[in-house]
Amino acid sequence: MQLIDGKKIAQERQDAVTKAVQKLATPPHLVVVLVGEDSASVVYTRNKHATCEKVGMKSTLLKLPATISEDDLLSKIHDLNQERDVHGILIQLPLPKHISADRIMDAIDPHKDVDGFHPENVGLLHLGQPRFVPCTPKGVMTLLDSIDYDCAGKNAVVIGRSNIVGKPMAELLLQRNATVTICHSKTKDITTITRTADILVAAAGKPHLVTADWVKPGACVIDVGIHRMPDGKLTGDVDFDSVSKIAGWITPVPGGVGPMTIATLLENTLQAAEGAI
Ligand code: GUN
Repeated sequence: MQLIDGKKIAQERQDAVTKAVQKLATPPHLVVVLVGEDSASVVYTRNKHATCEKVGMKSTLLKLPATISEDDLLSKIHDLNQERDVHGILIQLPLPKHISADRIMDAIDPHKDVDGFHPENVGLLHLGQPRFVPCTPKGVMTLLDSIDYDCAGKNAVVIGRSNIVGKPMAELLLQRNATVTICHSKTKDITTITRTADILVAAAGKPHLVTADWVKPGACVIDVGIHRMPDGKLTGDVDFDSVSKIAGWITPVPGGVGPMTIATLLENTLQAAEGAI
C-alpha cells in the first residue's frame, strides 16, 4: 500500500502559486464570504483566508450575520462583481436555510466564480470545456496525477452525488476515460458495486462508511470525508485501518484531500486574476 501524501503535494502546488503571484504586477484578490457561524465553515474560511495571504495574494474575509436577507446578500455579491480590484468570490456553503444557494451561486460573476459553482461553469465543465473546476474534485485529479495514475478504461466508483464533489468528480473521471458509476444513499447492494472499483472516491459524508469488504484489493481509495470524532480526532469516510491493509493507494485524513482543496482554490484564484489582468 502506498500513502498519497496530500499535504506534501498541496505544499508543492502552493509554492508554485507563490512564484506565479510574485510575477504579477497586482496580487490576485479573493473575497471569502462567510454567512453565519457554522463551526466547520468558520475553520474552513479562516484557513482559506490565511493560506491566500501566505502565498502573497490579497484576501478579504467578509463575515455576515446569519440573519442577513437573501436580497442583502445578493446586493453584496453584485457590489463584489463590480469591483475591479476583486478577482475571485467564494461564498462558503452551507448557507442559512432562508437563503437559496442556487440564487446566490447564479448571482456570482462566472468569471470570478473560483469555486466553479455558477451554472455557466457547471455547464462548461460538463461540455468538456472547463473554466473553473470545483476545488475538491480538481484537487483529487491532481492527487491521481501525482502518482501517474492512468484512469483510461478503469472502473471508477464515486460514493456521493453532491454538486460540490460527487457530480463534478464523476465528470472529471469520465473525461479521463474511466468507466464511472455514482452510488448514493438509495443505491442497492452498494458493496457489489464498490468492489468493482479500481478507483474508489468516498464523498458520502458518513464517518468510516467504507470498510475493507467494500474495496477491491489493490484499488486506489480517495477519502473526501472529514469528520471530527467525539475524542476530537479527525477522520474520513473510509475506515483507514482496515482499508489500508488491502488498498493499492490510499489518502489519509487529515493530510489527504483536505489540503488539496485549498491548494486548488489558490490555483483557481490565480487563474481568475490572470484572466482579468
Ligand atoms: N462547503 C464545503 N465545501 C465547500 C467548497 O468547496 N466551497 C464552498 N464555497 N463551500 C464549501
